[in-house]
Amino acid sequence: MLMAAMCVALLSGLQAQDLPRQVSIILLGATGDLARKYLWQGLFHLYLEEVGKGHHFRFHGTALTSTEQGQEVIAKVLESLSCPGDMASGHCAELKAQFQQLSEYRRLKTPEDYLALSKDIEAQVEHEGLRETGRIFYLSVPPFAYVDIARNINSSCRPGPGAWLRVVLEKPFGHDLHSAQQLATELGSFFQEEEMYRVDHYLGKQVVAQILPFRDQNRAALDGLWNRHHVERVEIVMKETLDAEGRTSFYEEYGVIRDVLQNHLTEVLTLVAMELPVNVSSPESVLQHKLQAFQALRSLQRHSAVLGQYQAYSGQVRRELQKPDSFHSLTPTFAGILVHIDNLRWEGVPFILMSGKALDERVSYVRILFKNQAFCVQSEKHWVAAQSRCLPRQIIFYIGHGELGSPAVLVSRNLFQPALPSASWKEVEGRPGLHLFGLPLSDYYAYSPVREQDAYSLLISHIFHCRKDSFVTTENLLASWVFWTPLLDSLAHEVPRFYPGGAENGQLLDFEFSGGHLSFSQPLLEQLVPGPDSAPLPSDFQVLRAKYRESPLISAWPEELIARLAGDIEAAAVRAVRRFGKFHLALSGGSSPVALFQQLATGHYSFPWAHTHLWLVDERCVPLWDPESNFQGLQTHLLQHVRVPHYNVHPMPVHWRQRLCAEEDQGAQAYAEEISALVTNGSFDLVLLGMGTDGHTASLFPQSPAGLDGEQLVVLTTSPSSPHRRMSLSLPLINRARKVAVLVMGRMKREIAMLVSRVGHDPKKWPISGVLPDSGQLVWYMDYDAFLG
Ligand code: BG6
Repeated sequence: MLMAAMCVALLSGLQAQDLPRQVSIILLGATGDLARKYLWQGLFHLYLEEVGKGHHFRFHGTALTSTEQGQEVIAKVLESLSCPGDMASGHCAELKAQFQQLSEYRRLKTPEDYLALSKDIEAQVEHEGLRETGRIFYLSVPPFAYVDIARNINSSCRPGPGAWLRVVLEKPFGHDLHSAQQLATELGSFFQEEEMYRVDHYLGKQVVAQILPFRDQNRAALDGLWNRHHVERVEIVMKETLDAEGRTSFYEEYGVIRDVLQNHLTEVLTLVAMELPVNVSSPESVLQHKLQAFQALRSLQRHSAVLGQYQAYSGQVRRELQKPDSFHSLTPTFAGILVHIDNLRWEGVPFILMSGKALDERVSYVRILFKNQAFCVQSEKHWVAAQSRCLPRQIIFYIGHGELGSPAVLVSRNLFQPALPSASWKEVEGRPGLHLFGLPLSDYYAYSPVREQDAYSLLISHIFHCRKDSFVTTENLLASWVFWTPLLDSLAHEVPRFYPGGAENGQLLDFEFSGGHLSFSQPLLEQLVPGPDSAPLPSDFQVLRAKYRESPLISAWPEELIARLAGDIEAAAVRAVRRFGKFHLALSGGSSPVALFQQLATGHYSFPWAHTHLWLVDERCVPLWDPESNFQGLQTHLLQHVRVPHYNVHPMPVHWRQRLCAEEDQGAQAYAEEISALVTNGSFDLVLLGMGTDGHTASLFPQSPAGLDGEQLVVLTTSPSSPHRRMSLSLPLINRARKVAVLVMGRMKREIAMLVSRVGHDPKKWPISGVLPDSGQLVWYMDYDAFLG
């Protein structure tokens, strides 16, 4: 409101004056790539739109290049400008000549250059009997130059009173939260927030700019559909065929997440996910709703991402940045990210963000796929697109390129007929044979812009008209970095999967998700683990025999290891419930599994908790509410977050009649009976164990007189450390399990891990060596600290 009021006030204030108005546009970096490709054309487009509507213009292309060279480049660019197809060529030539006359090149380097520019503008305005309305500075320059330029504009080139200043900035806006904050603070010391226009050119794409108006104009149809009950998933995708050749000095520092996901795809995500403001044309409301959407984004974990790098990339970096032959880059050129939004509207709906270079096609889109619970009795040949509930139901904001070749909004005919402004959107003509997202084009209501306009022309026009909703505010920018920075940090040393590029990629980059976990669908044949260096290069990687004590070994960094184990437990649970209707899981206590419990509690919505029985592997003889109780740990980190029926939770009966583990209470026998009654053959589906530094497991300690063999299923034991009295499943019972997972983490376990790798079967000395499932599977999960030291 404030913004809009300011813009109007300035305009109307000036309308009161009789003198004709002038806006000066200063394009910094006017000879650069972006300027030559898009910005000059965008400025020309603005001129075509606005000339004759009461404004005069002057365009100053500036750069560090000498005047002579700069003029030469600019002359060529101006010569190549084009008019819209429907403009008569004579009229076009006339306007182009005018635009050329109003455009000049000058070098802009020192504070004196800025002062001189300001004086020249003032003199020219006065000379021509005009009144200055405002100045637009468009900074198409590398970000390291921002602060100096900002200082010079602020100190020597602000327009006089009554005229506005608009400063346009191009990404990257920082490298992470810290640098973005720093840059924002520095820029904030020179400019007011309303003076800054941060460009995200995706917000200028016609289809992206249409997302909120579309949601607004189709409220009646979408109100009931735009939520977790109806949306199966949302895909936000930007695929490119080009690679990073020629841009590696930029790309090597940023990579695909910073280049595309943190900005373009995140902006689109917020437009889809935000609550719809009552007034979608109010920049303030849009921003507030966007910020709320950011707040609801669930933090990303390392396993929320899959990364890739096209094979030729490192070679390109070596050539372009003169790196030695031994240099290998870890910069991802492909990323798939799974985002969840923890609010009532979106809880449980996966948002998949994906972008990559050197892929098989160039296309960008947002696809909202709706759930389908219909069953159609008639055979498929009788299905009618507009009526059959069995055909896929989806809305696609087709941002551009791809098989359709133009931007479009597509709505499945079996959803509803959308409303779009008929002056600017028209129905797409039929294209027999063209299929998009599994359906023939004719199965969609499909609309494309009456006049295609490139993003920069649209944004430049919005800057001129003070439409701030198409730009990224400081708060918005920082919220995005808050979301992405922890993931970027945790992925800093991640080795991306290499892909050949183009159609050759085959299924190599396909990925899938379960719970909160994303992984490539096709496993690599060998397990690669990095050397001990903190920042491993691909060349440091070695292929390991993935075996430990003759059983499969999974080793990774702690977070990844926990994610993998949680994923494996969930998969085992789903399988068991599918086959037997229930899942019996026995869990150890102590500190190692805490992260696992937390992971299971937060990231695994598909876990069949309602059919899971939870048992304790061992327990300390303390009351259940005691912080040292294993049950208490389970309760705090897992049980209170998931919905396991109370009668499926089986704490060990260590506290009975105010006594702790009294022999005469026969708690161990009672637990054994409960197991025998509920668990077929006493065979747990999964037992999770740890390994102590003395080689103990469960509460079975070296030289334990009970539990290492024999008939007893549950035993009372003594621990060398306090609390000494324990209850534990016995080795014979553990070994009846279908699967035993042993989780070993931390540098402290390094020595015992090394020792146990060499010893034979000697449970008296090292109880862990007695873990050998009779017919089930044993898998070791060790983090690199425990395994590699
Ligand atoms: C830019 C990225 O912001 O967007 C490029 O820096 C990317 O790496 C480009 O190629 C894609 O934009 P478009 O408009 O071609 O989808």
